[in-house]
Amino acid sequence: MVIAGIMTGTSVDAIDMAICEISNKGDRHMVSLCSFETRPFSDDTRELIMRALAGSASMEELCDLPFFLARDYAAVVRERSFSEPLSGVAIHGQTLWHHPPVSTWQAASGPALAALLSIPVIHDFRSADIALGGQGAPLVPVFDAATLVHPTVDRVALNVGGMANITILPRNASTVDVWAFDTGPGNVWIDAGIRSTFGKRYDTDGHIGRAGRVIPPMFQECTSFPYYNQDPPKSTGRELFSESEARRLITKYSHPSSPLEDVVTTMTEVTAWSVADHIKRYAPTTTEILVSGGGSQNSYLLERIGVLLREAGVEATIVVHEHWNAKEAMAFAYLGWRTINGLPGNLPRVTGASRAVVLGSIAKA
Ligand SMILES: Nc1ncnc2c1ncn2[C@@H]1O[C@H](COP(=O)(O)OP(=O)(O)O)[C@@H](O)[C@H]1O
Ligand SMILES: [Mg+2]
Repeated sequence: MVIAGIMTGTSVDAIDMAICEISNKGDRHMVSLCSFETRPFSDDTRELIMRALAGSASMEELCDLPFFLARDYAAVVRERSFSEPLSGVAIHGQTLWHHPPVSTWQAASGPALAALLSIPVIHDFRSADIALGGQGAPLVPVFDAATLVHPTVDRVALNVGGMANITILPRNASTVDVWAFDTGPGNVWIDAGIRSTFGKRYDTDGHIGRAGRVIPPMFQECTSFPYYNQDPPKSTGRELFSESEARRLITKYSHPSSPLEDVVTTMTEVTAWSVADHIKRYAPTTTEILVSGGGSQNSYLLERIGVLLREAGVEATIVVHEHWNAKEAMAFAYLGWRTINGLPGNLPRVTGASRAVVLGSIAKA
């Protein structure tokens, strides 16, 4: 089956589409990447997402947004370079609010997209898990379990998107041995830091973070959120690690006399610390970390994670995943394939749901 997975994460940076060929050999599932493309949102969609996230969109605009997203996704699918017919399009949607274990909201109309493309669309992946008392997240671990378990190496898959999450994959693990959760902010606060100081969208390769120094009281306040010490299952988002909270912290701790870089360095250290601290606590035998997401391109962040782990006695090699930019979209193609085949997509140990369940709905073409 050839399925397109479409991911639009908390960074709101772009629409990522991975077209995958998915098959099974006995119990083993094979997912191979046929093509990957990343396209910008249309201006009106992006602007509306940002206002919805800030809580300033009207009811009419919130009503429009799922249709705007369907239109943007349809354009990405239509303009694809890979021309074989698709059996389905699996969409994550745009998270507007995440309130586990009560509710979660990924905007995007599956039926509208199916109608525009005349292709079945699998959508709304998180609701069923939430209804069963789960976090509705993370959902990528079933894909990590299928593709990244090594016979002799204790691995961690680390994704640094807007938020950061880890999947713990002990050597030879079966899916029930896999554990995963969000560690806290990934790029959101680094991006907020650089936007408010240098007016750039992100810190390319960690250039600016590398040039500054940590502001100790700021680091302390940023790392004092109770979320970090909660035990899994846990997941988080922009509700907690919000733009407005970042702005408050930045304003409180930036002094006109101190270098602007320091804010970015401090935010980078917060992400590095939270990732390293969770690995130290929950996966101290890890020897290999496979990093994906846009944050994998920040070499200063990866360096700091490595240093903090070494200081904590964890000797792990950090490797950038071969499909670092496509991995999450590939995971949703795989989750769509599981839904079409009637296979559950959540891992109850990971999300905290009372049982495994087939995720999402299928909007017929
Ligand atoms: N070359 C780079 N150097 C540093 N950071 C980068 C680079 N490219 C992307 N990023 C970061 O990655 C983010 C996008 O990551 P992504 O994995 O798409 O997250 P999400 O899933 O939340 O959309 C950007 O907002 C930026 O912070
Ligand atoms: Mg993205």
